[in-house]
Parts: sequence; structure tokens; C-alpha cells
Amino acid sequence: MATATRHILTGFLIMTAGGILLWMYMFNISGHYDYKAVKTLYARKAVSIEANKYGGAISQTKNASSRIKVPAVPNNSTGARYVVYMCQHLCGGWGDRLRGIMSTFAWSVLNGRQFIIEHTWPCDLRKFLQPKPPLRWADNIPQRKGMTTRRFNLIDNNSFLQEIQKTKNLSDTFHENVLRFHTNGDMFPGFRYNKDLHKTIRQRYGVGFKEFTFEKMFKRQYDTIFEMTPYFSEMFQSILSEAKPTIKSKLACLQFRQLFQANNTQKNAWAFLKNITSSFQSYKIFVTTDSEEIRKEAKEIFGSVIVDPAGAIGNIDHAPRAQREHNCHLLEKTLLDWHLLTQCDVLLHSRSGYGQQASMMKEPFTDIYALAFNGTITKLQKPDFKQPGGYMDTLFRNMTEKYQ
Ligand SMILES: *[C@@H]1O[C@H](CO)[C@@H](O)[C@H](O)[C@H]1NC(C)=O
Ligand SMILES: *[C@@H]1O[C@H](CO)[C@@H](O)[C@H](O)[C@H]1NC(C)=O
Ligand SMILES: *[C@@H]1O[C@H](CO)[C@@H](O)[C@H](O)[C@H]1NC(C)=O
Ligand SMILES: *[C@@H]1O[C@H](CO)[C@@H](O)[C@H](O)[C@H]1NC(C)=O
Ligand SMILES: *[C@@H]1O[C@H](CO)[C@@H](O)[C@H](O)[C@H]1NC(C)=O
Ligand SMILES: *[C@@H]1O[C@H](CO)[C@@H](O)[C@H](O)[C@H]1NC(C)=O
Ligand SMILES: *[C@@H]1O[C@H](CO)[C@@H](O)[C@H](O)[C@H]1NC(C)=O
Ligand SMILES: *[C@@H]1O[C@H](CO)[C@@H](O)[C@H](O)[C@H]1NC(C)=O
Ligand SMILES: *[C@@H]1O[C@H](CO)[C@@H](O)[C@H](O)[C@H]1NC(C)=O
Repeated sequence: MATATRHILTGFLIMTAGGILLWMYMFNISGHYDYKAVKTLYARKAVSIEANKYGGAISQTKNASSRIKVPAVPNNSTGARYVVYMCQHLCGGWGDRLRGIMSTFAWSVLNGRQFIIEHTWPCDLRKFLQPKPPLRWADNIPQRKGMTTRRFNLIDNNSFLQEIQKTKNLSDTFHENVLRFHTNGDMFPGFRYNKDLHKTIRQRYGVGFKEFTFEKMFKRQYDTIFEMTPYFSEMFQSILSEAKPTIKSKLACLQFRQLFQANNTQKNAWAFLKNITSSFQSYKIFVTTDSEEIRKEAKEIFGSVIVDPAGAIGNIDHAPRAQREHNCHLLEKTLLDWHLLTQCDVLLHSRSGYGQQASMMKEPFTDIYALAFNGTITKLQKPDFKQPGGYMDTLFRNMTEKYQ
């Protein structure tokens, strides 16, 4: 007993000392983040700088080869360059926003720019999610004389993809210091089918261009960009322990976007959930939906096995401008539901970006089902992923064929 305690204590001391040394190395005492040191760390691969801020509940991307090489961004050089994801008003639902964030982050990585998120609508995102070191996406952009800015308004505009695909050199074509994006699009096909980016994709992501798809990069990027704030993490852990009270307990989930479903197709979903849980010894059911009626129906049918994070359902994009506190609650509920959706043992989702992207967080990708508009249920082998304008790859059919 005493020996065991001593071993644990020794282990703890070594880990703490290691952490402090690593911290000193990266922040080179002055407290400023030293990108070069981090670059070296990445190059060595052996040292893990990822702490699991979710208390171990969420599976994080752990292995070194799956880490993304966030480029070194010189502080204070006149050539400092940024990519900004903007959401100040009308940027779509959380699914749209994730698409915009993932695309612009990939741009920053491939183009060696510092990544910034300015998300204030309908509430400051930083209340719930914060930059995961070494990223510092909540920084202000220093105002310097002669600094140039270009703004892109690309909501539901996919033709921009072709511009990305054709450019010989991102830095030449888009040379401004600050590139500000208001977008909900998947830009990955534009990068993937641009031959001049293949080498950079390989260097920064460690994958060939064919692998460089939104679906495949989603979890790695998400785990690189975000961690929960202590406030949100506490709330999330509490609902998670309700949803998965024991290790053996299963969580079966439904994401039902009423807008994308024919009338009464929830009946198919209820039958599916009943059938699938009939073989589970202990389980909970979680239903996230844009309809209070569907939410009520679920409670009536499944009663006490329902886990239902508190809060009113609402469209985060069309929140009332004046009601700040209410708006923060809307975003909180949206994010709480989404993160819980990433933890399902079985997930049935509508043809909606919100559910589809939650499924991309699941590793390995198993027991995910799609609920079609007409109520048909299909087991998925890979994430379903649609865009407002259809599937982006169709824009590049010629290139897909060329590269097969
Ligand atoms: C590490 O991640 C890479 C890329 O995601 C994957 O191909 C590989 O199998 C993983 N290795 C281990 C040991 O999990
Ligand atoms: C750059 O360094 C200065 C101090 O020299 C610091 O005040 C500032 O926050 C840093 N900015 C960025 C974007 O790193
Ligand atoms: C950063 O840049 C500003 C203005 O260009 C300059 O006044 C300041 O001395 C620089 N700081 C450092 C640490 O280089
Ligand atoms: C879409 O974006 C491109 C810029 O790449 C612009 O030329 C075009 O006019 C935009 N289309 C619409 C409908 O706004
Ligand atoms: C792209 O353009 C930038 C700036 O003009 C230049 O520094 C860089 O070397 C170019 N990259 C390639 C691969 O040609
Ligand atoms: C679906 O339900 C709504 C409201 O109950 C009704 O107005 C609409 O006609 C129904 N649509 C179909 C296709 O049955
Ligand atoms: C019920 O689930 C089993 C597998 O668990 C499956 O084989 C069967 O088709 C399902 N039935 C219905 C009606 O969904
Ligand atoms: C329902 O929709 C799916 C997917 O769109 C389609 O494959 C299937 O044929 C449809 N079934 C019926 C009965 O219409
Ligand atoms: C694809 O190829 C066809 C025929 O080769 C051509 O007509 C079409 O314009 C091409 N589409 C694109 C997007 O390049």
C-alpha cells in the first residue's frame, strides 16, 4: 500500500516537473508563446502537449501523427497575416458555422496565417469554447499602419471554390494581411483539387490530397481548435454523467430536424429507437430537435430514460437582437446538445449539418444511421455530408475522375 502510494507520488512529481519544463520551453519564460519551440515539438512528435480538458470523458485525438502542424506565425512582424472566421450576424446554424470555421482554419494552416475566430452572434462563443493551445484564436489583430484587409461574403456561395482550386499561389492571389471570411461553405474540395497545394497538405496534415476531405479532417481540426471553457465543461460533464451513468450504459440518440423531415417521420425514429435499445441492458435516449412538439412527444413515449438538457430550443441565427441573456442561453443549449450528440453509442440523424458533423466526431465511425426526408433509415458506412448547394464534389467531377 505505502509503496504504491509512493510510486504514484513519484509519478505525479515527474509529470508536474515535465509540465513546467515544457511550459518554460514553449513560453520562453517571458510568457510569450514561442512558435519556433512549438514547431520543434511538433517535429519531434514524441512529446504530447495535449491535456485532456474534458476530464477524460471525450475521446480526443491523441496520436502524434494525427496532429496538425499549425504554422509558426511571427509576432509583430510587419508581414503578419491572419485568417478570420466572422460571425457577427446571420451566419447560419451551428452546422453552417462549423463548416465555415473548419474551412477557414484549413486555409490558415495551408497558407501559414494566424487563425482568428470572431463569433459574437447571438452570444460570444468564448463563453463556451476557448482556443486550445498553441492556437490563440481569441487574440485581437494588432492594428498596424499599412495593414491591408480583404473581406469575403460567401454565405451559400460555392463558386468561390473554383477560385481556390485555380490559384497557383494562395499568398499571391490573396495577398492582404487580413482575410476576413463570412462563410458557411466547405472549401476542402478547392484545396484538394489544387495541385499546387498537395505538398503543403502532406506537410501540414500528413495526408495525401485524396484524404483531405472535410469529413476526414473534421475531428482532428475540431480537437486542434477548441476546448471547453471551465464553465461549459462543468455543465457538460454534469449532463454527460446523466446520459452515461455507468461505463456499460448506452446512449441512443436522435437528431430530428423537422424542417428536413416529412410529416410523421418521427414515428419511424421512435420505432428505430425502441428496436435498437431492446438489446441494451441499460441505456438512455437523447433527442435533439428544432421542434418543441417532437421533444415533448419523445418524453411522452420514452419517459424517464430520456436525457434532456434544459433550455429552450431556438434558432441561433434568428435570435432577437435585444435579448442578450436569452440569446446566450440559446447558444448554450445548441452547443450542449451538439457536444452530447458526439457521445452517442448509436446515432440516428436527419440530413442536417448539425447531426452529420456530430457523427464525424465519432471514432471509430460505427452505429450511425441516416433518417431520410421520407423517413427511410439507412446505416451509414461513412459520414453523410451535404451542403446548401448539394455535394461540392460534383463541381469538380472532372477533376475527381482525373485523379482517380
Ligand atoms: C494515428 O492517426 C493516424 C491518422 O489519423 C491513423 O492513420 C493511425 O492509424 C493512428 N495510429 C494509431 C496508433 O492510433
Ligand atoms: C506580440 O507581442 C507583444 C509584446 O511584444 C504583445 O503585447 C502582443 O500581445 C503580441 N501579439 C500577438 C498577436 O502575439
Ligand atoms: C512591435 O511593433 C511595434 C510597431 O511596429 C514596435 O513599436 C514595437 O517595438 C515592436 N515590439 C517588439 C517586441 O518587437
Ligand atoms: C460568389 O463569390 C464570388 C467571389 O469568388 C463572386 O465573384 C460572386 O459574385 C459571388 N456570387 C454571389 C451570388 O454573390
Ligand atoms: C507564393 O508567393 C509568395 C509571395 O509572393 C512567395 O513568397 C512564395 O514563395 C510563393 N510560393 C510558391 C510555392 O511559389
Ligand atoms: C404536414 O403537417 C402540417 C401541419 O400539421 C400541415 O399543414 C401540412 O399540410 C402537412 N404536410 C403534408 C405533406 O402532409
Ligand atoms: C431491429 O433491430 C435488429 C438488429 O438489432 C434488426 O436486424 C431489425 O431489422 C430491426 N427491425 C426493425 C423493424 O427496425
Ligand atoms: C426515401 O428516400 C430515400 C433517400 O432519398 C430513397 O432512396 C428511397 O427510395 C425513398 N423511399 C420511398 C419509399 O420513397
Ligand atoms: C467537365 O468536362 C466536360 C467535358 O469534358 C466539360 O464540358 C465541362 O465544362 C467540364 N466541367 C468543369 C466544371 O470543368
